[in-house]
Amino acid sequence: MSGIIEKLAGTGDLTDGELASLIGTDEHDGELYKTADEARRSVYGTDVYIRGLIEFTNYCKNNCYYCGIRRGNEKASRYRLTAGQIFSCADTGYELGFRTFVLQGGEDPHYTDEMICEIVSGIKRRHADCAVTLSFGEKSEESFRAYWSAGADRYLLRHETADPAHYRMLHPASMSLEDRKQCLWNLKKIGYQVGSGFMVGSPYQTVANIIADLRFLQELRPAMIGIGPYISHKDTPFRDFASGTVELTLRLVSVLRLMHPYALIPATTALGTIAPDGRERGLKAGANVVMPNLSPTSVRKYYLLYDNKICTGDEAAECRHCLDARVALAGYGIVVARGDVKTREAKKVAV
Ligand code: SAM
Ligand code: FES
Repeated sequence: MSGIIEKLAGTGDLTDGELASLIGTDEHDGELYKTADEARRSVYGTDVYIRGLIEFTNYCKNNCYYCGIRRGNEKASRYRLTAGQIFSCADTGYELGFRTFVLQGGEDPHYTDEMICEIVSGIKRRHADCAVTLSFGEKSEESFRAYWSAGADRYLLRHETADPAHYRMLHPASMSLEDRKQCLWNLKKIGYQVGSGFMVGSPYQTVANIIADLRFLQELRPAMIGIGPYISHKDTPFRDFASGTVELTLRLVSVLRLMHPYALIPATTALGTIAPDGRERGLKAGANVVMPNLSPTSVRKYYLLYDNKICTGDEAAECRHCLDARVALAGYGIVVARGDVKTREAKKVAV
């Protein structure tokens, strides 16, 4: 094994210089994937957890320059799901073996805290053995506490980039990295399983930015880490930027797995969008989660964060069966379980 990978696997860390050289070459890729896969197998075996993604609104008050559902995109057709529609997505998902539902959307003030709490507690009442994950942007600590009291278990909020100057290049001045980070710390304090992450190959991103992302994640120690390639969208200010690559994304999935052996790391839809076998390759590089879509087929084509998003025409059941086959072919198996994060302590008890 090359010294640098051995060190990363053994200590979970590298110097900035070592990280830069590992990220900057494809020389170690095969060995890196293999070592990351061994690390995931030692904690999670071949289990793959599925999360049913319910994209409940594509209205957003923000104007992130990279995002297809940004407020300023007048070409986007907007929709909102009612609580009843969300419950019916969850019911379909439950029948298909999903035990985690992820409510994701733009930052849409139409949904008051009261409405969100009713949706969360409604799902929990119907499916008490399921986890509810929320992912609709920055909220006050008070709001996060209200959702938690209503039964929410997890929250996904990518930090997007840990470098303040880079953050300002990706977002309008009304948004700040400090606010976003504060949300993540608040969520942790409340007790959520927290997810964060970043886009790979976003406009203006440098290797130093990526190292800052890795350092921030080491500090935050999230339960879930979501990274996927940036993919350009034709109706955003970043339409002319190149998308991120599969190779760099996979390399970073492996680095993150070795830094965070216990984390839940998805093989993202964006990875499956830039390469037909992207999600399978993600699993083989250390990912252990997939997040198929449970949104009603009628609205899927409107939740377009980037161009050419996959699975926008399929029924939930089709996606589920397609994924079963893909995961099995890659050498893993989907399990029907909530799929909570494992911890070193839990492993010690189990041994
Ligand atoms: N509004 C919530 C938030 O800001 O966290 C959740 C929805 S947001 C669309 C979910 C994630 O999509 C973002 O965190 C971002 O990383 C990713 N995303 C947005 N535009 C993208 C693009 N063009 N390519 C790849 N990922 C993108
Ligand atoms: Fe709000 Fe993308 S700008 S979800």
